[in-house]
Amino acid sequence: MTKAVAFPQDRTCPYHPPAAYPRTEEEHPLTRVTLWDGRPVWLVTGHAAARSLLADQRLSTDSTRDDFPLPTERAAAVRRRRRTALLGWDDPEHNAQRRMLIPSFTLKRAESLRPRIQETVDRLLDAMEAQGPPAELVSAFALPVPSIVICDLLGVPYADHDFFEEQSRRLLRGPTIADTEDALAQLEGYLGDLIDRKRRKPGDGVLDDLVARASGNGGPEREELVQLATILLVAGHETTANMISLGTYTLLRHPERLAELRADPGLLPTAVEELLRFLSIADGLLRVAREDVDVAGTVIRAGEGVVFSTSVINRDAAAYSDPDTLDWARSARHHVAFGFGIHQCLGQNLARAELEIALGTLLRRLPGLRLAVPAEEIPFKPGDTIQGMLELPVTW
Ligand code: HEM
Repeated sequence: MTKAVAFPQDRTCPYHPPAAYPRTEEEHPLTRVTLWDGRPVWLVTGHAAARSLLADQRLSTDSTRDDFPLPTERAAAVRRRRRTALLGWDDPEHNAQRRMLIPSFTLKRAESLRPRIQETVDRLLDAMEAQGPPAELVSAFALPVPSIVICDLLGVPYADHDFFEEQSRRLLRGPTIADTEDALAQLEGYLGDLIDRKRRKPGDGVLDDLVARASGNGGPEREELVQLATILLVAGHETTANMISLGTYTLLRHPERLAELRADPGLLPTAVEELLRFLSIADGLLRVAREDVDVAGTVIRAGEGVVFSTSVINRDAAAYSDPDTLDWARSARHHVAFGFGIHQCLGQNLARAELEIALGTLLRRLPGLRLAVPAEEIPFKPGDTIQGMLELPVTW
C-alpha cells in the first residue's frame, strides 16, 4: 500500500530523515506523496531508482512549467515565473551555461584555494577564541567561512555580507510570498549593479570572467549574468554553512566517531563524504517527467511530478549496509547528497575542501569543544529548506 503523506516533512532529529517518509526496505522505491496544493507526486526513496532517474533527461527541471512540483506556495510564486540559472534549465541551454563555469570549479581550482580557505578558518577561530567561550558557531564560523570563500572566488565584496546573507535567508525561508519575491529582487538588483561596475572596472573573480565573456560574441546577456551570479552566491554559501553547523552538531552527538577523527585526521576526507551521505542537507530534489518513464516496474506518466528525498535515498540498505550508522570505514562516495546527472553540484570540489579544512581545524584547535546547552534545545531548520542548524551554541 502506498501512503500519501505530505511533502516536504520536517525532520524530528536534525541528522535523520523525516520519520514519515517510507524507507525503501519496507516500501517500493517510488511512492505517492502530496504537495501543499494537494497535487500527488512521486517520491523517490530508492538509491538505484534515484540514480537512474536523476541521469534521465526525460525528467525536466523547468520550474516554469505548470506541472512542475514546487514544495511551498512561496517557492511556486517565485519559480513559476522565473527559472533559476543552471538548475532550472534542461540541456542544451543548461550545458551552455555550465560549460562557461566548469573551469572555475575544477578539483584543481578548489585545491589551489586551500591555503586561502585555511587562512580564513584560522582567522575566524582566532577571533572566536579571543572572545569566547562560549560562542554561537553559525554566526561566528559556519556561515562566514563559505561566505568569505565564495566572495573571494566570485569577486563579490565580503563587506556586503550582512546584506546578501539576509536576502539569501529570506529567499530560502522568507515567511511570505511578498518577502521571498522582495529578497530575490534585492539580490538581483545588488548583483546587477555589481556586474555593471565590473564592466567598467574589471577584477579577477569568476563574475569578472563571465562579464569579460559577455563583451565578446555569443556571451551571456546581462540578465543571464545576474541570474548566474545569484545562484552561485546563494548556493555557494548557504549549503556549505549548513553542512559545517550540522556536521559539527552531529560529531558532538557521536563522541566515538569524533574521537576516531581526532586520533586520525587522515580520516577527514572519508569522514566528510560519510557526513555528506548521512546528513543529506539538500533533501528534496525536484523534477517533472516530459515523457512516460518506466523505472523499477512503475510508469511515471508525462506531466507527473517527481521529488527525491536524498536523506532516505542515502540510507537505502541496498546501497549501504547498516545505513543509519555513521561509519568512517564505509565508502560513501556514490551518495546523492550532491545530486546526480547533469545538475550534479557544480561546487562540490570547493565544498569538500571547505568542509575538510573547517571541520578538521575546528576539532584540532578546540579539543574541548562541546554543546553549550542541551542538544534538544538547539533549533534546526524546517523541512522545506536546506537542512542545518539555526543556531549552535558551543563552548570549549
Ligand atoms: C556541502 C555543500 C553543498 C551541497 C550539499 C550541495 C548540494 C547540491 C545539490 C543536491 C545539487 C543538485 C540539485 C538538483 O539536482 O536538483 C546542487 C547543484 C548546484 N550546486 Fe551545490 N551543494 C553544495 C555546495 C555548493 C557550492 C559551494 C556551490 C558553489 C557555487 C554550489 C553550486 C551549485 C550549483 C551552481 C548547482 C546547479 C548545477 C547545475 O544545475 O548544473 N553548491 N548542489
